[in-house]
Amino acid sequence: MRVLTIIPTYDEKQSLPTTLSRLRAAVPDADVLIVDDNSPDGTGLLADGFAAEDGQVHVLHRRDKEGLGAAYRAGFAWGLERDYEVLVEMDADGSHRPEDLPRLLAAVEDGADLAVGSRWVPGGSVVNWPLQRKVISRGGSFYVRTMLGLPYRDATAGFKAFRAATLRRIDYTSVQSAGYVFQVDLLWRTHLAGLRIVEVPITFIERVAGDSKMSGAIVLEAMERVTVWGLTARGRVLRNIATSIGR
Ligand code: GDD
Ligand code: MN
Repeated sequence: MRVLTIIPTYDEKQSLPTTLSRLRAAVPDADVLIVDDNSPDGTGLLADGFAAEDGQVHVLHRRDKEGLGAAYRAGFAWGLERDYEVLVEMDADGSHRPEDLPRLLAAVEDGADLAVGSRWVPGGSVVNWPLQRKVISRGGSFYVRTMLGLPYRDATAGFKAFRAATLRRIDYTSVQSAGYVFQVDLLWRTHLAGLRIVEVPITFIERVAGDSKMSGAIVLEAMERVTVWGLTARGRVLRNIATSIGR
């Protein structure tokens, strides 16, 4: 399989070198695309340096910080144009261990249309997260599962391996979500398309350098969108029942 690992970056100068070298060692055949949103700390320049030394590393420079969703959409377009068969999402800050990627790729080889690196299945875990962040993530996943009727434990996971056909099928270009709810959006669309989703347990390790870009606005966008999707889906069910009774 031709694999492209996409790493979005915003001010990740301290983390990127280690993440990149671990990734190249763990999955030497996979190409890498760093999608940098003009990081003020110079991550983009640093990435250019790696690309100059290593033909399997590429960089996509975007002019403005427009959120995780926009960065990934641009990265997917880049990879699909170049006929990669599997497109991977991975954080730059070391939270997603590159050493876990072979297990995600094996799940895709075994027939998954989407493999999700999951913190909240047996065998998965989170290391060094403050209680508050655990509550947001587990509570968020619970809300998503309940509202959308999704059977997956980690609904906001950001370590994913997609078959190229999956991204085309769910029309990822039409995804509007800007922040981390982008992850829920992709999962929900893949589920609605009836595709095969497999959760693979991972250990998520909180970053040791730099800052999380998580914000109140990101949480709010997620809550709003998931609520609207959930209510719309329920409305659809009710309308169908009403029509079949009326008939
Ligand atoms: N290009 C770009 N533009 N990259 C971004 C942006 C952006 O606007 N916002 C965040 N990133 C990059 C970061 O540089 C990092 O590589 C990755 O996206 C994840 O950002 P973090 O800020 O480290 O996320 P987190 O640790 O708080 O959140 C993690 O958990 C979320 C909730 O479970 C991630 O795994 C998310 O994907 C996940 O949804
Ligand atoms: Mn992080």
